[in-house]
Amino acid sequence: MEQQDKVVILDFGSQYTQLIARRIREAGVYSEIHPCSTKAEDVKALHPSALVLSGGPASVTDPGAPELDPEILSWGLPVLGICYGMQLLAKDLGGKIVSSAEREYGRASFTCIKSSPLFDDWWAGSDMTVWMSHGDRVEAPPPGFEVVGVTDSIPVAAMADESRKLYAIQFHPEVAHTESGSVLLNNFLFKIAGLKPSWTMASFVDQTVAGLRERLGEAKVVCGLSGGIDSTVAAVLLHRAIGDNLHCIFVDNGLLRMNERQEVVDYLAKHFELNVKCVDAEDLFLSKLAGVEDPEEKRKIIGYTFIDIFDQEASAISGVEYLAQGTLYPDVIESCSFKGGPSAVIKSHHNVGGLPERMKLKLVEPLRELFKDEVRKVAAELGLPDEIIWRHPFPGPGLSIRIIGEVTRERLDILRRADKIVQEELRASGWYRRMWQGFAVLLPLKTVGVMGDGRTYESVCALRMVDSIDAMTADWTRVPTDILARISNRIINEVQGINRVVLDISSKPPSTIEWE
Ligand code: XMP
Repeated sequence: MEQQDKVVILDFGSQYTQLIARRIREAGVYSEIHPCSTKAEDVKALHPSALVLSGGPASVTDPGAPELDPEILSWGLPVLGICYGMQLLAKDLGGKIVSSAEREYGRASFTCIKSSPLFDDWWAGSDMTVWMSHGDRVEAPPPGFEVVGVTDSIPVAAMADESRKLYAIQFHPEVAHTESGSVLLNNFLFKIAGLKPSWTMASFVDQTVAGLRERLGEAKVVCGLSGGIDSTVAAVLLHRAIGDNLHCIFVDNGLLRMNERQEVVDYLAKHFELNVKCVDAEDLFLSKLAGVEDPEEKRKIIGYTFIDIFDQEASAISGVEYLAQGTLYPDVIESCSFKGGPSAVIKSHHNVGGLPERMKLKLVEPLRELFKDEVRKVAAELGLPDEIIWRHPFPGPGLSIRIIGEVTRERLDILRRADKIVQEELRASGWYRRMWQGFAVLLPLKTVGVMGDGRTYESVCALRMVDSIDAMTADWTRVPTDILARISNRIINEVQGINRVVLDISSKPPSTIEWE
């Protein structure tokens, strides 16, 4: 079989690193992300066809700032440095860097001043909008490089050493705010590095299954199955790789939606030959959550309790060495658990940041590099039914992070009934498929209302409905007001305990999708 081209991305901690990988995958080229601290010999062993140096939050002039093993640049591979990656190339190869305490953040207008294959079909003679996020800047390029682009505020926005195939840009071509940024990346991949687009979702499935088979051998694996697309896809891939050595566990933590346990168990039985055990742990979770209000504490308690259950279930099956989870990339980056990536913790997603150190099992996460829409494509490739592929994401900590304040049985019951109405109305109106996620949130706030002739003093429920492609950014969905009105009327009339419904109209960032 012909060796497939592979781009290795060295990660210096940017929140956008995975987006680079994703854009490269979209172009049909296989790519892998590795920590910037990876030694040259280990990078070499990956047999890269080209390298990308990502952005990152540090300053190259800081003592202790992440560095690149200098040997890597001596192999003659095509290299693209982005933002921090550009500054590092400039510093390591003898250019001049200027530090600035102030960060330039946002859109900038880019002018190409010298033709370069990087700009083919992109630069048409008039300024292009690009996305910047940097403190330091390159003031003079290293010997051998030419300045090929500038902006109003920086003298070296792009530089190239065509003979060594070293290219660097200060802006981020991987984000949607950079006009046609994919054209630049594709020029690097195909025109400069001469790679071939041969990677597809089918090859992802084949490679992942083969990789899992090799890594796991005869080991047994328990897989936490939630019924959502991520864990289901992870389980189906594992099942292809190791067959009956996979033991799936569905934990009823008491934080599920109405009828969810039954629905999930039914459809898993209907569509897959997976070996699934259902564990009833409602009392355990609710007793541990009693009195807890802090969101991170809730997440950690839930993560720990899940792991205790998995450990316990695993010890009942002889020879289990691994725990499999359907963790996706946005969970990884926001929980800051990517090794070598010094990014900020946003939330401890229970299936990554909430894992206790004492966990006895080793982790296997076959989807750790993918975004949700890519997982949907993998699911389609695996032949999963639409009802799973298009199910809205439901977080591991379940309704507990949609109940602001303490989680009690009574409040769970109220939220479950409100949520059921939201789901029913979104499906009935056809809006379910049009949005990324839609759900209700119960607030720790009571307000006065009037029902019949009487005064009420009950809880407020918020509706959260968002559009997104990958959960990294999101905007609130413009649902027609008549649908909102129906949802609100039904909740207030049918759910005892709620007398007011409000709509969340915040985008991510600066808000997040879930409230906790
Ligand atoms: P946020 O709230 O971080 O959510 O904007 C982004 C997406 O991730 C889901 N989410 C989770 N999924 N475990 C999960 O499996 C978690 O702990 C978790 N927290 C949030 C959320 O529903 C949204 O789709």
